[in-house]
Amino acid sequence: MSFVTDLTRAWLTRSTKPFIFKNEYDEKLSFTELDGLGLYVHIPFCAQICNFCPYCKVRFENDLCDRYIDALIREIHMVGSMHPGKKKVTSLYFGGGTPALAADRLGDIISAINEHFEITEGIGLELHPDNVRAEVLQKLKEAGVTKISIGIQSFQSKYQDILGRKNVDKESLKTALSQVSFETVSMDFIFALPDQSYLDLKNDIDDAFDIGANHVAIYPFIDFTFTSSKVKAMPKKEKRRLLDRITDYCEEKGYKRDSIWTFSNAENARYSSMTRDNFLGFGCSATTLLKDQFKINTFNVESYISRINEDKLPTSLTIRFTRRQRMVYFLFWTAYSTRVDPAGFEKFFGVPLKRMYGFELWLARMLGMVRMNNGIYEMTHKGAFYYHYYENFYTLAYIDKMWGIMRKEAFPKRIEL
Ligand SMILES: C[S@@+](CC[C@H](N)C(=O)[O-])C[C@H]1O[C@@H](n2cnc3c(N)ncnc32)[C@H](O)[C@@H]1O
Ligand code: SF4
Repeated sequence: MSFVTDLTRAWLTRSTKPFIFKNEYDEKLSFTELDGLGLYVHIPFCAQICNFCPYCKVRFENDLCDRYIDALIREIHMVGSMHPGKKKVTSLYFGGGTPALAADRLGDIISAINEHFEITEGIGLELHPDNVRAEVLQKLKEAGVTKISIGIQSFQSKYQDILGRKNVDKESLKTALSQVSFETVSMDFIFALPDQSYLDLKNDIDDAFDIGANHVAIYPFIDFTFTSSKVKAMPKKEKRRLLDRITDYCEEKGYKRDSIWTFSNAENARYSSMTRDNFLGFGCSATTLLKDQFKINTFNVESYISRINEDKLPTSLTIRFTRRQRMVYFLFWTAYSTRVDPAGFEKFFGVPLKRMYGFELWLARMLGMVRMNNGIYEMTHKGAFYYHYYENFYTLAYIDKMWGIMRKEAFPKRIEL
């Protein structure tokens, strides 16, 4: 597996140099000049812990959550005050964990953000279905949230049982969602669960749009090595058939595909904390991507709070990119939107995309993975499947390894991928 990713990395970065993450960070982060900067805030608390989930999270406790949010607000001020005046940013996303559990403190966090940043494209936040109650939704809306994403996983009880989650009560969700409106109401589903059929997925998507979603995300199940999940991954051929059929169905219905895994039935409905050129992340496990570096905060909640209380950034690891590494990073995340605009690449790097990756793009076109549409490279169904297929390797070779270490060590010395 790591053979595939090592080879691809060496080919695309034109170097055998691995990705090297070191336990260091810059005291001053340079984001002042960056366009299209996004913000991410991680809230690592959940009412119950699901055994398949790889994210950085702990059981919710009132006191710990309060201490964490006090530290989070300090981190926002530490980083935000590195820029004079207010920096324009696109969006702010709250991920987790289950950020809706901190609904009462959301106003404090957003006020801190607003002191340093001007958000132009709204605020998104993740909820567990248990949080979808009118009074919680109202609090979120009053705090400024404009997009919500609800972790449904499946409406089918057989899959909730496999995943160790409770059945979702569609009627109560529908009632709450009809009482408080948001620009985007997204619902997350997990795809490629054992023996999952086209009808299982199609019915889930139909139900989602019927009860008030205007956007759905269908994430392929990933079997992380450090989770205790017993769910087995679906064979490749079956996965491809399922992905193609469900994509065809969404396209026939006229749903807009705005990333590899997401479809919407409304023009303004968008939910993506990933497809941005640069972002600043706050909170434990949050990542920051700048022009020449990528950094990751510690995964340990207590260590995060202690570091902030010492007036230090909670950064655990930093990678300083070579130019080619940054290009690969740029292309990987831009391709997540299923489109790559050569003009965006040239604006970012000051060099034409064709000059840097002309052969690879030609090959991808010959293999039927991408096509040109009005000067923009667009992924075909085949390309989307292979992107997904490769992303699975990447996730298991890189993210699984890194997160596996960071769950155990708050500040590892060095990681090479
Ligand atoms: C932070 S959770 C969403 C909000 C809330 N905590 C919840 O679970 O309802 C983010 C999403 O990641 C997805 N996810 C978690 N573990 C996964 C795995 N092993 N493979 C694929 N998707 C996964 C789920 O769809 C989940 O809704
Ligand atoms: S899936 Fe959601 S609720 Fe479950 S552990 Fe992960 S973040 Fe928490």
